[in-house]
Order: sequence, then structure tokens, then C-alpha cells
Amino acid sequence: MDNAAQVARDLPPADAAMASAIAGETLRRLPDLDALIDGATRQRLPDDSKARMVLRLALAQKIGLGTPDHALVATALPLVDGGPRRLVHGVLGTLLRKGLPPLDTPALPEAVEERWQAAWSDEVVQAARRSIAHRPPLDLSFADHAAESEFPEGKSLASHHRRLDAHGSITMLPGFGEGRWWVQDLAASLPARLIPASAKHVLDACAAPGGKTMQLAAAGHEVTALDRSESRLARLADNLKRTGLEAETVAADALDWSPTEPFDAVLLDAPCSATGTFRRHPEVLYRARPDIIEQSAELQSRLLARAADWVKPGGSLVYAVCSLEPQEGEAQVEAFLANRPDFRIEPAPQLADGVTPHERGWLRVLPTMLEADGGLDGFFTVHLVRAA
Ligand SMILES: C[S@@+](CC[C@H](N)C(=O)[O-])C[C@H]1O[C@@H](n2cnc3c(N)ncnc32)[C@H](O)[C@@H]1O
Repeated sequence: MDNAAQVARDLPPADAAMASAIAGETLRRLPDLDALIDGATRQRLPDDSKARMVLRLALAQKIGLGTPDHALVATALPLVDGGPRRLVHGVLGTLLRKGLPPLDTPALPEAVEERWQAAWSDEVVQAARRSIAHRPPLDLSFADHAAESEFPEGKSLASHHRRLDAHGSITMLPGFGEGRWWVQDLAASLPARLIPASAKHVLDACAAPGGKTMQLAAAGHEVTALDRSESRLARLADNLKRTGLEAETVAADALDWSPTEPFDAVLLDAPCSATGTFRRHPEVLYRARPDIIEQSAELQSRLLARAADWVKPGGSLVYAVCSLEPQEGEAQVEAFLANRPDFRIEPAPQLADGVTPHERGWLRVLPTMLEADGGLDGFFTVHLVRAA
């Protein structure tokens, strides 16, 4: 664990929540915050200078969290000494006097905007800008319909789903302790919905922390949940315990492991760049450089090749990634099908309001979808069927 992670773990929960909110607001608006800072300084501050970091944090608090000016100045100045302190004081004073723009449609990093413009459209980039400015709504998945009535205020956009405009501790919501629901973005709940009800034994091949394992178990499948991370599998086991659902767990690397017999269905929710989760995790926009996306795509193609062999003839392989990069979704599946003529795409039905299946039969979730209802994480999923 690095120092920053250790410090974060040692903070009291309220301070940790505040630190996380400030970091999140900063990352949501970083290019625009930097433009404001650059507009108020004669000489460009180096990207990694402490003065720029402190200014970014202070401005993000003002714009994203509405922190009063005196509190901003009082918390920012002690973080820097000497010349940089005078500079931060001066720049903050200038910007606060002038008044800050609301930054409701913050720019994404330039490289990401260019990439998504080329892959999708300007409309998608604009929707992504609008969606990153706000924390997304809370989606709950339910094991059974009866528990949904505890949230009459929640909007149901698919079966076993309620969307709440709630933030804060989820443990305080009704039914948490009894395990009647779990938090899962509606987009992330789509892949498990593609597994046919008739599939008896299902492998969840990259299972932790278990959102999809719980959906599969709740739907009555016999589930084997595999993941190479022991610590993430421990979270999956906790989730199963809380919800009273059952699955066999296997800690193993899918690149080495093999089952003793094939499954009726395999769900491969593959590790990916996770760029579709940018609303909750704006840091992914900075982490997911093209070389990282390429490495992810390479790993996904190896995992897909292995998972395909674990499917019974006539069985199902559902592939999914929480990514907005076509290399990890559409291109991955086209390359797979070119190598494996024994698989075909089973066209997906409309599983959630506003998520229309693509003409190739897969589900591609984009930031333009369901925008008026709070949007969705970017996602890709496809149902592949092996020849009988
Ligand atoms: C996208 S997450 C899975 C999320 C999970 N399906 C859910 O719905 O909660 C990908 C998972 O793949 C696991 N993973 C990555 N590489 C793996 C490998 N080679 N073998 C098995 N699991 C792997 C990671 O530990 C991570 O838990």
C-alpha cells in the first residue's frame, strides 16, 4: 500500500468521506480548473507543483461542494509555505473576487475527448461532459420483487431495479442489514440478465466483488464464482453472506485454471480500462492511457479464448466490460467471432428502458442513454452461443 492509501485508511470516516469528495470534485473538473488557474497566473505553474495542487483542491471545493470562501482560504494556505503561499493566496483572492463559473459541463481530458469523438460522436462527448459534473444516482438490484416496495420513491427502469436520488451511507437505507438488495449500476446488471433461465450451472469467471454472482444466484442458477484476487473474493463472500445467497467460490487465475466439466453458461465480466465508470471514478480518465487499453484488450482476448472452451455445446458465453473503448467491446467480439466460427451472437432483447440493442445484437451503453433519468455507466455486453 502506498503512503497516500495508508493515510486515507487511517482517517476517521467523516474525514475520509470529505477527502474523497474533494478528490472526486477535483478530478471531475481538472482541465477547467487548470484553465482557471492558468488564466490567473503570469507564469504557468508546473503541473506537479504544490501551489497548483492546492489551488485545484480549493477551487474544486468552491465549485463542486459550495465551501465558503473563508473556509477555503483557511484550509488551503497552511498546505503551502513561503513564496508559493503568497502565490496561492493571491490567485485564490483574484479568482474568488471575480466569481467562479459553475462548470456544469466540464471538459474531459483532451485525449479522452478526441478518442470518444472518433469512436462515437460529439453528442456522446457532450453527454459525458454533462454527466461527469454530478454524482450519479444510486441503483439498487433486488433479489426478489417483494423488497422493492420498501423504496416506493425509487424509479424502476428494469426488473429487480430501483433508482434512488440518495447519497451518503448505504448502510442506513432500509433492508441493507437483511441483505434484500445490493448497489449495482443498472448498466452493470445487464450481462447477468442475458444468461438464459435454462442454464443450470453457470460460471462467473471474473466474479468479485460479486454483483453479478448475486444476480445469478438470486435467479436460481447454480453458480461457481471464480476470481484471482483473494481479497476481492472475501468481499464477494461477505456479500453472499449478507444477502443469504449461495455460490461456490474458487480463487484461481482464469489463465491457468480449468474446470472439470464445461458449464451451461459462462459470464466473463472481464478486467478492463473501466472508462465507462468515469462518473463515479473520474480518475479512470487519467489512468486509462492508450497503452493500458491495449494491454487490457490483449488480456480480454486471452480470457475470452479460454472461457469459450468452458462452454458446453449449445451453451452461452456472455462477455462484458465496463468500458467505453470499442477495442475492449465491439472489436474484441468481432475478432473473437472471426477465430471461433462455432460461436454466434444471440441478439439481446431490450432489458432496460432506454437501452436499445445494437443492430449487431449486443448492448452498447453510452452516456447519451437515459440521460434525463440520471444516465448509466458506459458498458458493453454481448450474448454468444456455442454451436450445438
Ligand atoms: C470487472 S471486475 C468484476 C466485477 C464483478 N463481475 C461484479 O459484478 O461484481 C474484474 C475482476 O476480474 C478479476 N480478474 C482479473 N484478471 C483475472 C484472471 N486472470 N483470472 C481471474 N480473475 C481475474 C479481478 O480480480 C476483478 O475482480
